[in-house]
Amino acid sequence: MQETRHERALIIDFGSQVTQLIARRLRESGVYCEIHPFNKVDATFLDQYDPRAIILSGGPASVTWADSPRADSAVFTRGVPVLGICYGQQVMMAQLGGRVETGTSREFGRAFIDGVSDDPLFEGLFAADLKEEVWMSHGDHVAEMAPGFGVIARSPGAPFAVIADPDRRFYGTQFHPEVVHTVHGARLLRNFTHAIAGFRGDWTMATYRDEAIAKIRAQVGSGRVICGLSGGVDSSVAAVLIHEAIGDQLTCVYVDHGLMRAHESEQVVGLFREHYNIPLVHVDASDLFLGQLAGVSDPERKRKIIGGLFIDVFEAEARKIGGADFLAQGTLYPDVIESVSAIGGPSVTIKSHHNVGGLPERMNMQLVEPLRDLFKDEVRALGRELGLPQAFVGRHPFPGPGLAIRIPGEITAEKADTLRKADAIYIEEIRAAGLYDEIWQAFSVLLPVNTVGVMGDERTYEAVLALRAVTSTDGMTADYYPFEHDFLGRVATRIINQVKGVNRVVYDVTSKPPGTIEWE
Ligand code: XMP
Repeated sequence: MQETRHERALIIDFGSQVTQLIARRLRESGVYCEIHPFNKVDATFLDQYDPRAIILSGGPASVTWADSPRADSAVFTRGVPVLGICYGQQVMMAQLGGRVETGTSREFGRAFIDGVSDDPLFEGLFAADLKEEVWMSHGDHVAEMAPGFGVIARSPGAPFAVIADPDRRFYGTQFHPEVVHTVHGARLLRNFTHAIAGFRGDWTMATYRDEAIAKIRAQVGSGRVICGLSGGVDSSVAAVLIHEAIGDQLTCVYVDHGLMRAHESEQVVGLFREHYNIPLVHVDASDLFLGQLAGVSDPERKRKIIGGLFIDVFEAEARKIGGADFLAQGTLYPDVIESVSAIGGPSVTIKSHHNVGGLPERMNMQLVEPLRDLFKDEVRALGRELGLPQAFVGRHPFPGPGLAIRIPGEITAEKADTLRKADAIYIEEIRAAGLYDEIWQAFSVLLPVNTVGVMGDERTYEAVLALRAVTSTDGMTADYYPFEHDFLGRVATRIINQVKGVNRVVYDVTSKPPGTIEWE
């Protein structure tokens, strides 16, 4: 839990896929908030956290089931405004004396609601008496409101689309205001926090930066900190922030595993050593990594080998500089949110993403994680606040194992080189078309498949390259990016003409789920 005392909202999670979006919308309007699972929030927690408003998320359960999740009754007796969204609305009705029913069919997708009465929740909505477009996703619905509640908006399919008890400042929406498909959902949430709960919106990146610096100084004292730079945005922003807090007590170590993108190493070293003057150890360990990866095809083994070697190399370098008391990591808020799994148990590991697990214990170091409270877009905002160039801060996420997981099958230095060249062309074209910032992540994958082609009068038999580009807000779900065909054709032609070893280019149109962003 964050130490500094901003006005704070609490989001109680009932396991919805989109709970994080509530937090993002609130923070976008300057409201500090945290997400906590329903079964961890009780009266003691509430006393300590002291929220000015509470939001109950949606969730996959039905309040009509025995033992389905409930909010602690203290949520409704603290005297603070409460907004229940979808399952949150239903749980509020079930707990306060209303009734919820399971419908004969599920309602899913776009709907239009009509305002029935004026309410501060609707400030700026229903302009010119137009209906508001919202996004519904539920099977159950409220059948009878709890005492004190009245309907303030409805749709043909949802007579209780928005309900309110203005005296207690309790609200419930059947739809999801946090998703972008609810066109004025962000405004509705802002009305709830600002107009109804009285938030001023005092959460800004400038204040976050000052507080984070003070916190790092207090934690580290005169100790030494070591930070593994990956070239990615998170570790870079963490390093610059820590350097601003404690100067040369920080040393960065950049382990180059030989599977970085074109020019990446020069850029990282240049930025940190020359631009920021941050002490940086650059280790070129590509021979070691490529040697150990030779003949390995299984993606999880690749990750384990890279993770293990990374730790070995990092540890050896740390010893060379005399060790450190703290290890800095660019852990983000989505990594630390304790989420409620839809199936009630811990969620399954689809890929092992944590590449440096175990290092702090082995080296007896404590962790410094100054980005633990932030979402990815907030990390970017903090990076800009710290003066990092936009071209760097806006870079697409890049996985720790790098190109190793973009070469299905066995990895060789030659394949890595081919992929690097093709990828550089693809990214250059995306930047030239002005599309880079619209895309969450774009990259190429060198397939272990050769196909026949003709170039000039000659038959070729070379590899297939897959292009991938997705939009996403957090990497957890993603859509493929709908490039124009001309653009794809141009990229394919350039790659096939300029990169030896590739004679066919395909575009991946799989979303996540059911696919993942990376191919391995
Ligand atoms: P997936 O492929 O699981 O990727 O949809 C989601 C996000 O995670 C990144 N990713 C990784 N990051 N180590 C990392 O540091 C990994 O092993 C790893 N695998 C996937 C991926 O690039 C995307 O941003």
